[in-house]
Amino acid sequence: MAFAEDLAAGPVARALLGERLVLWDAGGGRAGAALDRCPHRDGPLSQGWTCEGRIVCPYHGWEYLADGPVARIPQTPDLVRFPDRFAVRTVRVDVRDGVVWGCLDEPVRPAPIVPVAGPGWRFIREFDEEWASAPARLMENSFDPAHTVFVHRATFGDTSRPDVEVPTVTRTAYGMVIRSDLSVANPGFAQIITAEASAKTVRHTETQFHAPFLRVMRSTYPSGAVHQIITAATPVGDECLRLVQWAVRNDTEADAPADAVVAFDRRVTWEDQALLEAITVPYSDRLDANIHIKVDRPTVEMRRIYEEITQGSWAGLRPTDRGPLVDSDGDLHRSTLVT
Ligand code: FES
Ligand SMILES: [Fe+2]
Repeated sequence: MAFAEDLAAGPVARALLGERLVLWDAGGGRAGAALDRCPHRDGPLSQGWTCEGRIVCPYHGWEYLADGPVARIPQTPDLVRFPDRFAVRTVRVDVRDGVVWGCLDEPVRPAPIVPVAGPGWRFIREFDEEWASAPARLMENSFDPAHTVFVHRATFGDTSRPDVEVPTVTRTAYGMVIRSDLSVANPGFAQIITAEASAKTVRHTETQFHAPFLRVMRSTYPSGAVHQIITAATPVGDECLRLVQWAVRNDTEADAPADAVVAFDRRVTWEDQALLEAITVPYSDRLDANIHIKVDRPTVEMRRIYEEITQGSWAGLRPTDRGPLVDSDGDLHRSTLVT
């Protein structure tokens, strides 16, 4: 996943499940995406540039169309047709509402519908960065109400209320939705988010888990302020994720300057990052790999969904994709991962 606006400055290097990719602006609101490896001599296409929607390899200048075929080889200017095997290997990519969604194979599900700017709602770009943590670990953290009191004790954690409410968990076609009310501290710098003046307030959250690696969190405060954050944990590798996050709010720049909103979420997100990156045990989605208590219900349900995905029994899969989706090494088949 990437912000489409970043492609305007030139090709962008990304990684997905260990594959190095290049994304570029293919013109007309479309993006191109391919392995970051020119078929000629393995040149790094992400170091190249674009020309009329084509990606130009920086090594010998070959130009590729967004759907893969080579369109021009500068060393043979009279040739206009080239064998199919000269094509660069592309990957599936869609641009929607300013966000680029990629998938290495045919996606099992369409890209999710997520909050973006609209009447009464403004888009605030937040983060796009790599973390040394497992994508699923960040997802579990995102749905874990008990950690807020401790990890976020310097920002919004209410340390007088560690006995947080057990969230309700409801399965959906895309994964699940979790609802909870949480008592939160509301120091001065948080009041930009909550639009509340009291020292404490209550955050009502309704958070969607779009399996496998997307969170859509909608927090509503008694003031009526709604702070939505959309967080993707793009799987770069087993213990590496790319966090792409934006916020969508129902107020104005005059109510809450975007810089201050980002600064608050930056602080909170760094608290999570410091904790998660300090975990040295490889992530396991097995239920028996850890201990769970009642309040951990979202994590338990999430691991069940991961298990169902690997077994091919998850209801969110198309019927044609049902059945074991692991390869002979036990790795999840790539096509199950839309991000
Ligand atoms: S390696 Fe890309 S054109 Fe030669
Ligand atoms: Fe957190």
